[in-house]
Amino acid sequence: MHLPLTILTLIGLASAQGSQGTGKTTRYWDCCKPSCAWPGKSTASTPVLTCDRNDNPLNDRGSTRSGCDSGGSAFMCSNQSPWAVNETVAYGWAAVNIAGSNEASWCCSCYELTFTSGPVSGKKMIVQATNTGGDLGNNHFDIAMPGGGVGIFNACTQQYGAPPDGWGERYGGVGSKDACASFPEKLKAGCNWRFDWFMGADNPNVSFRQVACPAAITAKTQCVRQRDVIDQTPTGPSTVPTWTPSP
Ligand SMILES: *[C@@H]1O[C@H](CO)[C@@H](O)[C@H](O)[C@H]1NC(C)=O
Ligand SMILES: *[C@@H]1O[C@H](CO)[C@@H](O)[C@H](O)[C@H]1NC(C)=O
Repeated sequence: MHLPLTILTLIGLASAQGSQGTGKTTRYWDCCKPSCAWPGKSTASTPVLTCDRNDNPLNDRGSTRSGCDSGGSAFMCSNQSPWAVNETVAYGWAAVNIAGSNEASWCCSCYELTFTSGPVSGKKMIVQATNTGGDLGNNHFDIAMPGGGVGIFNACTQQYGAPPDGWGERYGGVGSKDACASFPEKLKAGCNWRFDWFMGADNPNVSFRQVACPAAITAKTQCVRQRDVIDQTPTGPSTVPTWTPSP
């Protein structure tokens, strides 16, 4: 088969842009060591940073067992909570499943999500894939947000003394911003984010495209992929303050 050069060029450009498409979101915060925190999950030289029970970085190069496994003591660091960059952009992390791809391809990749339904329609969020999940469908971003529900696994009881099924419902988490007030101090801002910037959106749909990670995101996970389908050099400043609406 002979394809015209222009079509071949377009195919080349499409793959050079990484994955893109439309998908769905859910939310979770299970306090577990995320899957991309194990060594060798991707081309990144360092796996996703995890923390001990007291939220101190482990710097163990991924060797500590997850707090979700019996006897494990590695947990998700509280600073891998979403934050608002400005009124229309937020940064954060997610458990990911991309259709036709695999964990080695998405671990520590970043995706720009544009919300396409619900109150956040039109807002964007850049997430780094730190996790995956057997219960995720195709093109599914399970966005990490404290109080979003523990889902299948729960290390929040061990790490923070959360109720047996985590805070709120096991799937979906707490139902209002009031509940965030009684959260552990380090998780409050991420819990509030859901009801402020994210406007309490309930699993909005998205369109997505793979992008180089903002350096402000990789600074917190220390996980940076080698160049692959896209240039993975982190972009922008390594710290980006939290935007708060003017009163
Ligand atoms: C919000 O932040 C993003 C990322 O830095 C930037 O590209 C965009 O222009 C900003 N938007 C506004 C309205 O400030
Ligand atoms: C989200 O996308 C799914 C699949 O395309 C669709 O069935 C559903 O109606 C969408 N939800 C909203 C709220 O647009």
